[in-house]
Amino acid sequence: MVLGAGGLLGSELMKLLPDSAGLTHSQLSVTDLPAINGSLPRYRAEVVFNCAAFNAVDGAESQQEAAYQVNAQGAFNVALACAQHGARLVHFSTNFVFSGTLDRPYRETDQVGPLSVYAKSKLEGEKLVSMVMPRALILRTAALFGGTSSQDRLSFPERVLERASGGERLRVVSDQTVNPTHAADLAAAAITLASSDLDGVVHVVNAGCASWDELARATLAEFGVAWEVEPVTAAELAAPAARPRNGCLESARTQPLRPWRDALMAWARLRGAAKSA
Ligand SMILES: NC(=O)c1ccc[n+]([C@@H]2O[C@H](COP(=O)([O-])OP(=O)(O)OC[C@H]3O[C@@H](n4cnc5c(N)ncnc54)[C@H](OP(=O)(O)O)[C@@H]3O)[C@@H](O)[C@H]2O)c1
Repeated sequence: MVLGAGGLLGSELMKLLPDSAGLTHSQLSVTDLPAINGSLPRYRAEVVFNCAAFNAVDGAESQQEAAYQVNAQGAFNVALACAQHGARLVHFSTNFVFSGTLDRPYRETDQVGPLSVYAKSKLEGEKLVSMVMPRALILRTAALFGGTSSQDRLSFPERVLERASGGERLRVVSDQTVNPTHAADLAAAAITLASSDLDGVVHVVNAGCASWDELARATLAEFGVAWEVEPVTAAELAAPAARPRNGCLESARTQPLRPWRDALMAWARLRGAAKSA
């Protein structure tokens, strides 16, 4: 069963698990414990992938209650239902649980230090899930990209392409790094890890790190779009939510996914093929 099935990651999981029950936000809210408790036995769910999230990092600063309802209480509800019905839980979390001050990629055992409401609500979700279900798998990931522009929310590379094709100026943060991660790669890895013996927190990202402006340039290059990317500091852009300077992860517990540049190239090919079909 996939919860939050209409989102970026949820859609990729549903492509790989077409016979699963995929429930979108409008079909099931993770804030509704009785509804989750009803759904698990109805669909005979053996594994639950909880992709539901309040993901508006800046929006969460002014919508704290809503962020905690989904990212903390919602995660708790899903874990309670999984524990009650004996289902394996695969929950997703974020690189933003770290403060970003280390000078190397963060490993699972590194100390957390969330900087924003979004990050704190996701960390609270992690804690509640592991309290209820110590054997749950909590996959921390970063900077997801993918999609074919059919979803409501565009991923970062899609926004870059849209703005460039609209002739808009591209001012992109150059002093924060992440592991750009293909949602399809994460979905495939999550399915594999679900049937492994691993539990607890595991970092799952495409290998390598990039700043946002580097990712923007790589995206434009991949699509053959000549457009200027202007590097700016996070301080200059002054987004409402603070983000880690170093948002890069690596895993001491599982194999890294393919390098992010290869994953970006694969997505560009898929997107090109989908557009010309
Ligand atoms: N995207 C990233 O760059 C990134 C980075 C690090 C970690 N993550 C984590 O990866 C996971 C998947 O992210 P994503 O990129 O796939 O997010 P997404 O595209 O925003 O999808 C999240 C989905 O959750 C749904 N949702 C929101 N509130 C819900 C509720 N109360 N009950 C059920 N569903 C609800 C949303 O539906 P509506 O839109 O209809 O509300 C949306 O379809 C999340 O745990 C996220 O925190 C993502």
